[in-house]
Amino acid sequence: MAGGAIVNTRGGKDYPGKLTLFVFLTCVVAATGGLIFGYDIGISGGVTSMDSFLEKFFPEVYRKEKSDKSTNQYCKFDSQLLTTFTSSLYLAALIASFFASTVTRTFGRKWSMFGGGLVFLIGAALNGAAKNVLMLILGRILLGVGVGFANQSVPVYLSEMAPARLRGMLNIGFQLMITIGILAANLINYGTSKIEGGWGWRVSLALAAVPAGIISLGALFLPDTPNSLIERGHPEEAKHMLRRIRGTDDIDEEYDDLVAASQESNRVKHPWANIVKRKYRPQLTMTILIPFFQQLTGINVIMFYAPVLFKTIGFGDDASLMSAVITGLVNVFATFVSIFTADKLGRRKLFLQGGCQMLVCQIIVGTLIAIKFGTSGEGHFSKAYAAFVVLFICVYVAGFAWSWGPLGWLVPSEIFPLEIRSAGQSINVSVNMLFTFVIAQAFLAMLCHMKFGLFYFFGGWVLIMTIFIALFLPETKNVPIEEMILVWKAHWFWGKFIADDDIHVGNVEMGIDRSKIYA
Ligand code: BGC
Repeated sequence: MAGGAIVNTRGGKDYPGKLTLFVFLTCVVAATGGLIFGYDIGISGGVTSMDSFLEKFFPEVYRKEKSDKSTNQYCKFDSQLLTTFTSSLYLAALIASFFASTVTRTFGRKWSMFGGGLVFLIGAALNGAAKNVLMLILGRILLGVGVGFANQSVPVYLSEMAPARLRGMLNIGFQLMITIGILAANLINYGTSKIEGGWGWRVSLALAAVPAGIISLGALFLPDTPNSLIERGHPEEAKHMLRRIRGTDDIDEEYDDLVAASQESNRVKHPWANIVKRKYRPQLTMTILIPFFQQLTGINVIMFYAPVLFKTIGFGDDASLMSAVITGLVNVFATFVSIFTADKLGRRKLFLQGGCQMLVCQIIVGTLIAIKFGTSGEGHFSKAYAAFVVLFICVYVAGFAWSWGPLGWLVPSEIFPLEIRSAGQSINVSVNMLFTFVIAQAFLAMLCHMKFGLFYFFGGWVLIMTIFIALFLPETKNVPIEEMILVWKAHWFWGKFIADDDIHVGNVEMGIDRSKIYA
């Protein structure tokens, strides 16, 4: 047996090596890819509520909004045109992530990140300088392409670079950057909305160039992952890189397993045709359902519409922007909980705990709103009552921030075998973007029809997804990424989909069938 693999706490493989400064820094730089996504989530809601922006680009919407005299708090003025503008980005990202799959597989993960950053940069410039709606929309599409490429490549990059036992921590850097991007955008909107002269929105949109510059420049200095180097036929470079990132010469065993995975991968010429094979059914199911469920938690109702929501429950303009900043802060800090626990407690415990916490908060918030607004939507919150609602929204956001937020990106990036990893991640990104789009588009109409029941609606989904995780998601903490098939094989339900000869050398050595170990 090559190298000195030792046995980890669950009896599986644990390759030698430590967390080197080099791998830590590369992961920090790569994770900044999350900033562009986060910045965009946070910036558009605020910008589209600025009068000067509406007056310039959507005068019709502006006029209608000003003449809206409805007192029904549930059915505020709703413009599909305006929400389409906001959510067009997610459609562009959805399509781009499929192209990103080929770039990521053929040229390496770093070029997808670089390309994504660069296109986002051009989009930011177009938006900041926009003179008409065409420039705005073109800009949005380019931003979407950037997000599609970054979200496709960054999580995979992080999961491949990280040593198995710290994969959770390093991968969640991506989610941390998303939350920092959202918070920065909220703060910037807060500042630019005060600029007199009506050009504050330009500053908000143009500042997207900052995170784009960071990831584009950073990507140039990033090394490629050993997995990708082997996959693209550079074995010596891969060996060298593995030594460097693990901080030891004792890498033979891990290297051999990567080569075995790559040989397997080379047999697959068409990842898209392969991914639908029976043996990949567990991963395919997860990469569709996890992002779908992540969006059905209802988190983006808060991220996109927090200022509107807080205004609805009786806060003034300033106070509602401030409350968005508060939920943004909670989002960032609660993410650290998952950074420090995902590799110790495991993914399942966080999913289950976070799910229960969100569910309880959704029931409470729905009920608090029902008590005051009933079904008519007429009513008013006292300051203390509104503060109470905000408190439970914060507890809900915290639950998301240490469960479905980070794990929605981590788990799909770590469960696929190399040959279909890029394709699998594209599906993850596109399902995520599709439902981000659907919810952004439908929220205002849903609130108008379902009223306080909207919170129960999302609560119902959280209940379903929590049960789903309990039954169908095996624990993946500490398992080397190229050994993940053994975890599926050992699962009570998914095991049936994987035949014994789907498991090859590298997974099973010296007659030891490690699927027993992960059982
Ligand atoms: C989700 C986003 C969400 C963000 C909130 C991400 O994981 O994909 O849709 O807005 O978390 O922090």
